[in-house]
Amino acid sequence: MPNVVVIGAQWGDEGKGKVVDLLTQHADVVVRFQGGNNAGHTLVVDGQKTVLHLIPSGILHPGKACVIGNGVVVDPEVLAHEIDALKARGLLQDDGQLVLSLDAHVIMPWHKAIDIAREQRMGAGKIGTTGRGIGPTYEDKVARRGLRIRDLLDEARLTRKVKERLGPAREELARLGGKLDVEEAALVKTFAALGQKLAPFARDASLWLYRAIQAGKSLLFEGAQGTLLDVDHGTYPFVTSSNTVAGNAATGSGVGPTAIDRVIGITKAYSTRVGGGPYPSELKDETGEKLRRIGGEFGATTGRPRRTGWMDALALRYAVRVNGLDGVAVTKLDVLTGFSEIKIAVAYRCGTQSFDEMPSDLETLERCEAVYESLPGWTEKLDGVRRWEDLPKNARSYVERMAKLAGVKVVAVSVGADRGETIVLENPFTVAR
Ligand code: GDP
Ligand code: IMO
Ligand code: MG
Repeated sequence: MPNVVVIGAQWGDEGKGKVVDLLTQHADVVVRFQGGNNAGHTLVVDGQKTVLHLIPSGILHPGKACVIGNGVVVDPEVLAHEIDALKARGLLQDDGQLVLSLDAHVIMPWHKAIDIAREQRMGAGKIGTTGRGIGPTYEDKVARRGLRIRDLLDEARLTRKVKERLGPAREELARLGGKLDVEEAALVKTFAALGQKLAPFARDASLWLYRAIQAGKSLLFEGAQGTLLDVDHGTYPFVTSSNTVAGNAATGSGVGPTAIDRVIGITKAYSTRVGGGPYPSELKDETGEKLRRIGGEFGATTGRPRRTGWMDALALRYAVRVNGLDGVAVTKLDVLTGFSEIKIAVAYRCGTQSFDEMPSDLETLERCEAVYESLPGWTEKLDGVRRWEDLPKNARSYVERMAKLAGVKVVAVSVGADRGETIVLENPFTVAR
């Protein structure tokens, strides 16, 4: 059975949650492999909205398993709340539906405090993080001093690890002008209790996934953030602290790369970015404001207004390359209804230089201006359209042009937030490469 990876092809918030929820009908298991509750994935089914931060976007489908892999950083309090909220709605009735890797690293209160204190110190040059402690937790992971889910399950071990880490964390916080208002004993008690709450889900997720594959189950990997936020391939240092690209689906879940059959990227029909960093096709004018208003471009996690801009074909072509995309799903095409002219960035100009591929140097990218191609818009509403041939001609031409410039095939077009508001051109679970 095919295993499919879905990742964000831009700067996050492309509509990954919606597409993963839609594709879950064809899969048996949905797997998150990186990021943490910096993610906010929105699912809308028959008008009812669900925002997920940690639990994979397959959870609305009873009987489909959801796995939080070793590559995810887990805030146990947020996960516990998410579990309770789903149970209260009559979902996740069987604890066996959720698998939490024993090796996933834990976001501790000091990670959040350090993240926030650092950002405050950085002032205008800040990254604009979500303040969820993501960066400091991945730093401790790589520095080989992090706490993992397995450490919450053994109170003696937890006590020892908290004792080791709390002092240095307080010192770092003091240097940053922040502090942590919690005592060691209280912290151990809280996290031991959270460990007990999460214990029914905690497993060797890699082994669990291996057995699922052996049993012929089909896996759907759900990326968080987006390609341009990848710590290696994004606009460093204005990135998140994990690898968001498709290659990390294997590392972040303990599944070998040979298990991956197809890779699908999600892109909006225009672009958005939250937080700092270069964004050559950004619109700081009335058109950008209109995109934000019509597209409802406010963060699902922090509520911050998202920066908005035109589709960037260089960025999308880059995402096709570094993820090895087999196809893209284009979301929010409906938002472009009523724009008389729609633009696509096809090159960058930087002083006397011009680029037709993403420059990798941040300082160069920061000075780049987008060079646009202009296409005619359409006035028809798209939310009721369910077939490609029923889209207005100009909408089809726009999507085709974007795909041609990026060198990728379009496998789906989304014309509304609801699960059903989608035109599927090719099902990645039934088509071989
Ligand atoms: P994710 O982080 O990639 O899962 O995306 P978010 O959930 O953060 O942001 C995408 C937003 O767009 C959410 O509010 C979705 O409900 C909404 N959305 C997704 N697809 C469409 C679409 O085709 N049209 C419209 N109008 N909204 C959409
Ligand atoms: P989903 O999965 C959009 C951005 C933050 C900031 C940078 C680093 O919903 O697409 P972090 O807290 O990760 O250290 O912040 O990354 N960012 C996102 N932007 N969507 C997300 O997730 C994001 N997660 C992090 O705004 O610029
Ligand atoms: Mg989001």
